[in-house]
Amino acid sequence: NEKISIGLLGLGTVGSGVVRIIENHQQELKHHVGSAVYIEKILVKDASKQRTVEIDEQLLTENPEDILSNPNIDVVVEVMGGTNGAKDYIIQALKNKKHVVTANKDLMAMYGAELLTVASENGCDLFYEASVAGGIPIIRSLVEGLSSDRITKMIGIVNGTTNYILTKMSNEGSSYEDVLQEAQDLGYAESDPTADVEGLDAARKMAILGTLGFSMNIALEDVSVQGISNVTEEDLEYAKQLGYRMKLVGIAKRDEGKVEISVQPSLLPKNHPLASVNDVFNAVYVYGEAVGETMFYGPGAGSLPTATAVVSDMITVMKNMRLGVNGRSALPPLYEKKLKTDEE
Ligand code: NAP
Ligand code: HSE
Repeated sequence: NEKISIGLLGLGTVGSGVVRIIENHQQELKHHVGSAVYIEKILVKDASKQRTVEIDEQLLTENPEDILSNPNIDVVVEVMGGTNGAKDYIIQALKNKKHVVTANKDLMAMYGAELLTVASENGCDLFYEASVAGGIPIIRSLVEGLSSDRITKMIGIVNGTTNYILTKMSNEGSSYEDVLQEAQDLGYAESDPTADVEGLDAARKMAILGTLGFSMNIALEDVSVQGISNVTEEDLEYAKQLGYRMKLVGIAKRDEGKVEISVQPSLLPKNHPLASVNDVFNAVYVYGEAVGETMFYGPGAGSLPTATAVVSDMITVMKNMRLGVNGRSALPPLYEKKLKTDEE
């Protein structure tokens, strides 16, 4: 291909970052992909809305068919969010033989196995690195870098919004409402921030990490969840006085083949490596039987960090296109799911 055309579903926080990286990193894209990369069309809800990124208005459309049935488009990038609409669009794109990259953890946690099956049935790639921990390449690390090991434990701060809130409340004495609003203004929070503050967003990410790390189809319902909406400034102040920091922590453990996954506010001693993961940063500690301890750290949300993961996935798709090896990225073979709570 002399040129590869992208259809973007969404031009919000992440979509704008994708536009910026494609514009500013053409040299890197050309270097890795060997072709020029263009955005052909962008789906938005309201084409008349003021945008934070400079864009040719001709590219905008409110009609999904302009992308999903557009014969010029090779890769569809879903950064609009939500589940039902996004799921239908992704399935339609895959059936029309378009590769898909998504940042949508809600969708991947609920329908990942189904969507990955549709992708491989249609000889298409479906990548979703940005769905967990923003700019940290944790999915790639589990699926590729650590695939020879037996992972027994993953502990993560995997939600940027709640980490931002807890950090600012603890270090600056800011009020919960004020810092939640700040996290929304900075584009870190979900469109409905309930998913962030009640721990659901972190639970979705832990379900994805559990599925990949333990090779079992972990569902959102398998994760026990508690959020931070009841945490008070006093709780954080007492924790600090006692030498602890409060973080929203996801824990996934495998013990004798059985898995247990939870998300809850946790008190960490202040010298614990995860205690100094602040603001919008995320970190995932992974313990493998052979490798031992590893820790992945970086920005967990926000426009450019998240878009970096999205565009890197696009590059992988395009490299696969050049080699003619798309559609081999379905889920790894899964073991039978065994939860700690299952009866013997
Ligand atoms: P956002 O700022 O709310 O942007 C959503 C975009 O999608 C908007 O441009 C909106 O159009 C468009 N859109 C939404 N529903 C649509 C529909 N039904 N039809 C057509 N267009 C529609 O969201 P975001 O923060 O970029 O997040 C996008 C996705 O990335 C979500 O799945 C989110 O969970 C995920 N994600 C976000 C981050 C982050 O830091 N924000 C990080 C990792 C993953 P209008 O502009 O016209 O309203
Ligand atoms: N709302 C999410 C967060 C976006 O704050 O972590 C990144 O997935």
